[in-house]
Amino acid sequence: MSREHLLSISDLGREGIEGVMQLADSFKEVARRPIPKVPTLRGRTVATLFFEASTRTRLSFETAARRLSADVMTFVASSSSLEKGESLRDTVETIDAMGIDAMVVRHRSAGVPSQVTGWTSAAVVNAGDGQHEHPTQALLDCYTIREALSEKMGRELSTDFSGLRIGIVGDICFSRVARSDVLAFSLLGADVTLIAPRTLLPPSLEGWPATATADLDGVLDDLDVVYLLRIQAERAGQVLLPELDEYHSRFGLTRERAARLRKETLVMHPGPMIRGVEIAPEAADLPGSLVTRQVRNGVLVRSAVLLRLLSGTAAGGVDASEEPGA
Ligand code: NCD
Repeated sequence: MSREHLLSISDLGREGIEGVMQLADSFKEVARRPIPKVPTLRGRTVATLFFEASTRTRLSFETAARRLSADVMTFVASSSSLEKGESLRDTVETIDAMGIDAMVVRHRSAGVPSQVTGWTSAAVVNAGDGQHEHPTQALLDCYTIREALSEKMGRELSTDFSGLRIGIVGDICFSRVARSDVLAFSLLGADVTLIAPRTLLPPSLEGWPATATADLDGVLDDLDVVYLLRIQAERAGQVLLPELDEYHSRFGLTRERAARLRKETLVMHPGPMIRGVEIAPEAADLPGSLVTRQVRNGVLVRSAVLLRLLSGTAAGGVDASEEPGA
C-alpha cells in the first residue's frame, strides 16, 4: 500500500479539510490538560527537515508530535553534512535509514517534498516548498476562521464558508501561503479576492479560483477577512516594488484603514509580520487580529495531520479518556 502524504491542499479536498478540522477539535481538550499529551504515537518518530529558515512552523510541528508522544528528530541544514557537499537525496536516505515514520520538509525549491517521497518510506508533509504550497498553514487558517466565525456569530462550528469574502493582500506571486489558502478557502465556498500591485500578482490567474484587483480601498469595506502577506524578499518580491513606504500606503493595513474596518472583520497574517510594511505597528494588535490564535491553532491542526497520516485513518480522534503520555 502506498503511503499517504500531505503535499498540497488538493491531496485533501473539501472532505479531507473537514476531517482535519474535526480531528483538530479533539486536540483542544488535550491542550487544556495539565500534561497536554496523549500516548497515541508513542514509539513513532517524526523528523523535521528544514532547509530554509523557520520559527513557528518547525516548533509547531515538533510540539504537535510531542503532544502525540512521538519522538522528534530535528535536522538543521546549516549545521549538517550538506555543508560538506552531501546531496539532498543522500541526506534524506540517511535520515530514512534511522527508522522514522514521518518527514516534515521545508525547502526553498518547489517540488522538493514530492521528490522526497521517492527516497523514504515515511509519510512526507510539505512544510513549505518555494513559492508552491504550504498546506498546513492553509489548514490552520481555515480552522481559525471556522472558530472565529462560530464565536462571533454564535453559530455552530462549520466549514461552510459560502458567502464569506476573503481578501488576500500583498505578495501573492511569490507566496506559497497564498496558493494553498486560495485553494482551501475556495474549496470551502468562500469568495477570494487577491489584492496586489500588478507586479506581485501571478502572470496568469489560471488555476487560481479568485479575482484580482489593485484597489484595496475599493474592496476593503466589503471584506469579512483581511489576510495580509509578507513581501517575500528572498524570492525577489521586494525587487518588483518601487518603495516600501509607497507599498505601505497603497497596500498596507495602515492605521487609517484599520480604523475603517467593521468590528467583526477578521485580520490574519501567517507570520513573520513586518510591522510598518504590510501592517501598521499597532494594527497587528487590534481586537480583530487573529495572528496569535493562528499560531496556537497551528499546533492542534498539525497534531491532527500527523495523527491522520501515521494512524492510517481519517476517522477517530483522540479519546478524551486516554491517559496522557509518559
Ligand atoms: C510563511 C512561509 O514560510 O511561507 N510563514 C509561515 O510558515 N508561517 C510566510 C512567510 O514567510 O512570509
